Amino acid sequence: MAINYAEKIPNNVDLAEDRQLQRALEKWQPAFLDWWKEQGPEGFQQKDVYLRTATSVDAKGWASYGYTQMPDYRWGIFLADQAKERKVGFGDHYGEDVWQQIPGEYRADLRRLIVTQGDTEPASVEQQRLLGQIAPSMYDMRNLFQINVEEGRHLWAMVYLLHGYFGRDGREEAEELLERHSGDVNNPRILSTFNEPQTDWLSLFCFTYFTDRDGKYQLKMLAESAFDPLSRTCRFMLTEEAHHMFVGETGLGRVIKRACEVMNEIKSDDPTRVREHGAIDLPTVQRHLNFWYSSSLDLFGSDQSTNAANYFANGLKGRPDEDMFEDHIELDTTFGVEQLGEDGTSVGILQVPTRNAMNLVARHGYSKDCEIGLNRWNRQIKKMGIDFELSLPSDRFRRTVGPFANVRVSPEGKVISEEEWKKNVNDWLPSAEDKAYIHSLMQQVTEPGKIAGWLAPPDRGINNNPVDYEYVRL
Ligand SMILES: [Fe+2]
Ligand SMILES: [Fe+2]
Repeated sequence: MAINYAEKIPNNVDLAEDRQLQRALEKWQPAFLDWWKEQGPEGFQQKDVYLRTATSVDAKGWASYGYTQMPDYRWGIFLADQAKERKVGFGDHYGEDVWQQIPGEYRADLRRLIVTQGDTEPASVEQQRLLGQIAPSMYDMRNLFQINVEEGRHLWAMVYLLHGYFGRDGREEAEELLERHSGDVNNPRILSTFNEPQTDWLSLFCFTYFTDRDGKYQLKMLAESAFDPLSRTCRFMLTEEAHHMFVGETGLGRVIKRACEVMNEIKSDDPTRVREHGAIDLPTVQRHLNFWYSSSLDLFGSDQSTNAANYFANGLKGRPDEDMFEDHIELDTTFGVEQLGEDGTSVGILQVPTRNAMNLVARHGYSKDCEIGLNRWNRQIKKMGIDFELSLPSDRFRRTVGPFANVRVSPEGKVISEEEWKKNVNDWLPSAEDKAYIHSLMQQVTEPGKIAGWLAPPDRGINNNPVDYEYVRL
């Protein structure tokens, strides 16, 4: 169905036909706008930003571009088209018709899944609210704001489900989504990663590469859900999410390219000298990859989880790309899960029921997806004649969840002593000195087409515009 922009809340769900829901959402809308003005990008609310807006929900040509002040962005409710005769694709309800309403026995679980997903969306806007002030170019600033308004829309997507299918409980949850704030000591966001402020652009690029990609995998799992409205809303969110990861992948690629250019100019790979020439040396990039990859793995939850098993059995949350698996029921199958041996250093494999290992199955898919960008960056480094290879650390490294939680492990995956950890930690994770250096680079660049010295220019602009287009009118 086409998106209706004539209404107060743009939508393609025939909102006007459901007066009660429309009224409830119209009541929530001003609270959302207040939240956006208080917690959204600081200092740019009255500026014209070149943004895309959804015009339809099919894969081709869904976006229109134009200047908008962010508080005027047309946030709304957009669901992918309903697939005809869609059947449940996994678990105990395999092959049955999907649900248009929530079965009573799954209400609490689905509410929890939707609220947890919904909470991350505004959280990331809050985490990134100061980054516009240190944007390395107008092009990058615009991309940041595009991500921010889309995360705001993802909040709308989850709030629509809460209001539309959960009655009073849902309305209360929707209010609380605007009351919790990232980093708020009294009322923080649900997941800890979403309470860390992002104070530099290297972290933003890592966040959009690794943490938004976790979001992609969560959405892929929810897109499999037997609860059809959840599946449809997640399918459309995924098309928006792709841009966020594009910002991460190209952003990190540009950091790496700039480092290589400087290394070639000065004919040295000495990190100190690379820094003297204003670039971010590759070992520092590697330390940031180590940090963000490991923290994003934790978002998948425990390797073994009865919650995950129940979500799968009941049809609430499937595996990413469920179609690709042979067995969609996994009743008597097992899956190997790593275990720390009794000697405290060896690693063994324990076979557990596959259903209990669903978090791990999803995480494996995620790790493979993370490798794609790494391979691309490594090809670029090689092409520029530099002898250096970036890699993902072992999945056991720096975990706070699962069998290796709080166990000292090297990036190669070896269990090590506290002493060895202390000796090497500054080579493995961003140090205070790294952070101070990165911060010293964070200066706002406002001349269209100019890019900060630590970052290579992008290959192309947005929507066929040149790189020096005035993406934000300051
Ligand atoms: Fe999102
Ligand atoms: Fe995102």
